[in-house]
Amino acid sequence: MTEHSENQFDPEKLLEAARQQATHARAPYSRFHVGAALWSAGRIFGGCNVENASYGLTICAERGAVMNWAAGGSPGTPLAIAIAARSADSGQWVEAMPCGACRQVLNELPGANQLVVWIWDGEGGKSTTLRELLPHSFGPSDLGIEKG
Ligand code: THU
Repeated sequence: MTEHSENQFDPEKLLEAARQQATHARAPYSRFHVGAALWSAGRIFGGCNVENASYGLTICAERGAVMNWAAGGSPGTPLAIAIAARSADSGQWVEAMPCGACRQVLNELPGANQLVVWIWDGEGGKSTTLRELLPHSFGPSDLGIEKG
């Protein structure tokens, strides 16, 4: 788990944490190394993709970061998630958006309507929002439950 105690939100720090998390990827099949970093309560919760020989049991970096945050007691309301992906073969950073499954998992977070998504493209960060990536979503409110 990557945690920092600095509580000032800093996208550069979050992107740096995502890049660092990508170095922990366990991706012998795709050789696509992904790191994610979730900012909540002034802390950073990291995740990396962990692949499986059955392929389908692979866990993405973003979901790893969410699980890490939950395992840490779900502190605060996540403000942003950063994602960094690199091809192990070329060594190049690749601009990669969160997959559909991860978007749906991020939609469970408190503050999902305001969650900012930062993508590392090898040169600097680009930001979008979960709402932009997952409009008209199905979520907790459809079942009468508040995100929390
Ligand atoms: N991957 C992620 O970790 N996050 C995404 O949002 C897209 C895909 C991983 C899963 C797999 O290990 C590899 O990238 C290739 O799909």
